[in-house]
Amino acid sequence: MSGYTRKWVGGVAVATLALGALGAAGASAAPGKPGESRYTAGASGVGDEYFPYAGNGGYDVEHYDLDITYTPPAPSPAPVEGEFEGVATIDLVATQDLDRFNLDLRGMDVEALSVDGRPAASVAPPVAGAEVDGQAFWHVQDDAARVWELTVQPRPKLKAGQHVQVVVEYGGTTTRPLDVEGALYGWVTQRDGAMVVSEPEGSMTWYPVSDHQTDKATYSFEITVPEGKVAVANGIQPRPEETADGWTTWYWDAPDQQASYLTTASVGDFDLRDAYTSASGVPIIDAVDTKLSPTRLATTNASLGRQADMIDFFESKFGPYPFVAYGSIVDNDSVGYALETQTRPVYSSQASEGTVAHEAAHQWFGNAVSPERWQDIWLNEGWATYATWMWNEERGIRTAQQSYDNWYAPARNQAYWDFQIGDPGPLGLFAGQVYNRGAATLHALRVEIGDEAFFEAARLWVERFDDSSGTADDFQAIYEEVSGQDLEAFFQTWLYDQQKPPATWTTP
Ligand code: ARG
Ligand code: ZN
Repeated sequence: MSGYTRKWVGGVAVATLALGALGAAGASAAPGKPGESRYTAGASGVGDEYFPYAGNGGYDVEHYDLDITYTPPAPSPAPVEGEFEGVATIDLVATQDLDRFNLDLRGMDVEALSVDGRPAASVAPPVAGAEVDGQAFWHVQDDAARVWELTVQPRPKLKAGQHVQVVVEYGGTTTRPLDVEGALYGWVTQRDGAMVVSEPEGSMTWYPVSDHQTDKATYSFEITVPEGKVAVANGIQPRPEETADGWTTWYWDAPDQQASYLTTASVGDFDLRDAYTSASGVPIIDAVDTKLSPTRLATTNASLGRQADMIDFFESKFGPYPFVAYGSIVDNDSVGYALETQTRPVYSSQASEGTVAHEAAHQWFGNAVSPERWQDIWLNEGWATYATWMWNEERGIRTAQQSYDNWYAPARNQAYWDFQIGDPGPLGLFAGQVYNRGAATLHALRVEIGDEAFFEAARLWVERFDDSSGTADDFQAIYEEVSGQDLEAFFQTWLYDQQKPPATWTTP
């Protein structure tokens, strides 16, 4: 195992070197002038203002095949650290003539890397503009600057449209990574396994990836864990697990286009429950921690028992369920939140009905259609919250209008209204306003244009942007197209105005 990447972690000089070696984040390299090489470096970010180094330019990933061997931590009082060995086989297509390109990878050491079967040399990050001979790779990890980039210099260089397979052998000790806000995310080591929840750019803590939802791909997984542990990822089991010599290998296939932040491969003491199906035939596969207390297990079972009904209900409103399968991973441990990982949300400690409805709705809003920029997060959280208001109405608990009124009525301080859900900032992605004012925005929109246009536009949004991503402007355009109304002032009021929206949309 190569340890040299460690010495590049942290430090001002390293940051300078890192930025020099990577080129400007988000900037796409200029095409060569006549007489110059037309081969340029792919950008080190896709240009998301909130996370400049998330994702990469110059190529599109088509498929990730992740072969992981994971040993959970030793029993207490040893540190909560696991041992991880991975082989990522990445099929990608160049979208420009490429001299170099990057993958995102954080906290892991790369042992070997090849392009179309030809090994690349491991070299120290070069200073900006310096030449490196031959096919090579280098890894910059600067925790202070939150820059984690694995640069590949393929030789021969890649032509636009060329398909190649990159194989990365990597690994290390897993810890408990933190996002920009200080919340646990990524490959979160737990004593009994790992909870893997990577929103917004935590997938790079467990595989080399273009870690942005504008580059969706399909996935396959082969996860080997000590016998007795269960590994659960997205999608379906293409074949049963296999056990030999004290290790069990679990196979999962996720054949739908999937954003990196929605990838999971959680490991624990799970009761893996046989698939049952929704009325429309969606197989539902649940994994429930065997250590849940009786009370939490009862809550969880009651909530999971409603998943098929939730899919039926949301299909009737939003159109066909977008993926091959569904189901839940319920961990006895907690990261402090649940995540709508594609086809298989992850829950902390237990699954309550409201949260299950929320994560189910995300499969349409967030997963089938992802926010093109993290700035558009209200399209995820507003919709998932609003769908839960609708579910509560369906269940006879309270109407969506009552939920709206409950949000609208109380006096709130100015700081609450100052917050712009249309531009929440990287530290505001999961603020309460994104969820609740986001849901209220959708309810007000429904009141504004009527049920028929509201749901027709919702279905058109999912259909048109399925397997892809869209912005708040794209969303507004669809609602204007379907309703025939100019909604500029509406969205300005609800997404940006730093005050309580007028009472126009409140029941008298
Ligand atoms: N998207 C998740 C949900 O369903 C929440 C993620 C919260 N993440 C965080 N770092 N706080 O609402
Ligand atoms: Zn959510």
